[in-house]
Amino acid sequence: MWLDSHCHLVAGEFDLDRAATLDRACKAGVDTFIAIGSGYGIAGNARAVELAAADPRVFATVGVHPHEAKEFDDEARTLLEELIARPRVVAVGECGLDYHYMNSDREVQRAVFAEQAATARSRKMPATIHVRGDEPNAFDELLDIWQTETRGEVEGVLHCYTGTLEFAQRAIEAGFYISFSGILTFKNDRGLREVAKALPLERLMVETDAPLLAPQGFRGKRNEPAHVALVGEVLAALHEMPAEEVARTTSENARTLFRLGDA
Ligand code: NI
Repeated sequence: MWLDSHCHLVAGEFDLDRAATLDRACKAGVDTFIAIGSGYGIAGNARAVELAAADPRVFATVGVHPHEAKEFDDEARTLLEELIARPRVVAVGECGLDYHYMNSDREVQRAVFAEQAATARSRKMPATIHVRGDEPNAFDELLDIWQTETRGEVEGVLHCYTGTLEFAQRAIEAGFYISFSGILTFKNDRGLREVAKALPLERLMVETDAPLLAPQGFRGKRNEPAHVALVGEVLAALHEMPAEEVARTTSENARTLFRLGDA
């Protein structure tokens, strides 16, 4: 069975058919969902926590997306401190740095990400991380802040990975897993399949990032967790392994990082 390690089930795109969407995914062989709290307004975190509380297939994360960093204030801090302590919340995030869109100032993004990393350390929780942008280099800055704040005491996952092989290898050494999205299936993958092929399956995960990033064949449409198998099948072909084995290993990786057995 597949595990969607990163989906935005709280998105308004699913308001009319959220339950049916999860059932479709189950029929497609997806039995577990990590519902990301951030990315759809800081208040969206509460909805992810509620979804996880109501459905045994769903676990939640709580955090501040780099796009939302400028909205993070004392009120938001108090709200997130309360939410992160709730049952079935398994990670901080998604948090990180995005110097591609730069929706929040760089200094604000850095400060908010540092605080999120410190939260991961103090709560002994993993983090799910968004990183994008080459100039200035978000990847190097992210790893610096993470290592300073967590002191290597917690692990994380770089979600929707689109960076270089060299950086992925450095990140794995620093305790990260690497998660691939539908971008891995795109005709123009910008070399991403070569990166995925060269990395050890023991550190990889798959995700949809739904409702965004629908895989090849569905591009332009709403993405949904049922499509995570399409990402996994590409990864299986690259590693010349049966899809079932890739499903088992990537799901196990997520269960280990997010400690789903204890949640
Ligand atoms: Ni996301």
